[in-house]
Amino acid sequence: MLLQVLGTAAGGGLPQWNCACPGCTGARAHPHRRRRHASLALRADEDHWYLVNATPDIGDQIEDSDALRPGPGHRRTPLAGVLLTDAELDHTLGIARLREAGGFTVHATAPVRTALRERLRLGEILAPYTRVDWLPLGPGPQPLGGEGTVELSTVPVSAKRPRYAAGGPPDPDGAGSADWVVALRLRETTTGRSLLYAPALAHWSDAFQRAVDEADCVIVDGTFWDDDEPVRTGISRKTATGMGHLPISGPRGTARHLTRARARCLYTHLNNTNPLGDPDAEEHTSLRSWGLEVAADRMVIEL
Ligand code: MLT
Ligand code: MN
Ligand code: ZN
Repeated sequence: MLLQVLGTAAGGGLPQWNCACPGCTGARAHPHRRRRHASLALRADEDHWYLVNATPDIGDQIEDSDALRPGPGHRRTPLAGVLLTDAELDHTLGIARLREAGGFTVHATAPVRTALRERLRLGEILAPYTRVDWLPLGPGPQPLGGEGTVELSTVPVSAKRPRYAAGGPPDPDGAGSADWVVALRLRETTTGRSLLYAPALAHWSDAFQRAVDEADCVIVDGTFWDDDEPVRTGISRKTATGMGHLPISGPRGTARHLTRARARCLYTHLNNTNPLGDPDAEEHTSLRSWGLEVAADRMVIEL
C-alpha cells in the first residue's frame, strides 16, 4: 500500500496567516519548518487515489504531488474521492475546491455527512457544479472503490462536534454519537498490511488499542506536546484533553502507549504551539528515545 503524506499541521497550518507566535515566526524564517494542513493520499489501485481529509491547502497539496497531478489527457485526474475522519473545517473545506471535478465520492460517517450536507450545505452548494456521491463509512470492513484491494474500517474516537454543528439536532442515540470523530483503518487485502490514521484522538479506548496492535503503521494526533500547552501558550482556556486532543507526553499522553506498539508510529496534526515544529527542540530527543517519529509533509510511506 502506498501513502503520500500531504500535510501534518493542525487547523491554521504552520505558519498560520494571523499568528506571530514563536512557532509561526520560526516557520516563516525557515521554510523547511512549514507544514500544510494534515492530510494523506492513498493509492487504491494503479489509477485511483483517495485523499484522507480535504484541507484548505488541497489545491497546492495536489499540485505538489507527482502522483496526484492530472493527465495524460485534458481533464483526467487520478483523484477518485475523499475519506473523512471527522467534519472539522480543517479536514473538510477542501471538498468545495474539488468543484471542477467531473464527479467524486466522499466517504464519511453518518453524523459527519449530515453536518456537511445540512449545516455547511455542501451537497446543495456543489450540486450545480459537480456530482458528489456521499457514501457511508462504518465500522466495516468495507471495500474501497471498485477494483481496488483496500478495505476501510473505523474506530470511534470522539463525540466532539465541530463548532459550527454544536447547536444541531441531538444525536439519535441521545448520549452523543462517538462517530463524530473516527480513526480510519486502511488495510490492503493482498498483503494484509494496514495503516491506522487518527489525526484527532480524544481518548485511548480498548478498541483503539486493539487497532494499534493490529496495525503496521500508526499515524496519530500530535496536536500538542503536553496537556497544559494550549493554556500555557495562551491560545485556549482548555487543556489539550479538554480540546479533544490527547497530548503526546505526560501521564495522559499517547507516547506511553505507542512506545510499546510493534507498528511504526508517527505524529501528525501538529499545532503551531507544539515544540516539535522546531527541528532543534529538545523534545525530539525524548521522542526518538521512545522510538516514535513526527510525520513530515511529502513523506512517502510504503506498507
Ligand atoms: C481541532 O482539531 O480540534 C479542530 O480542527 C479545531 C477547530 O477547527 O476549531
Ligand atoms: Mn483540527
Ligand atoms: Zn502561531
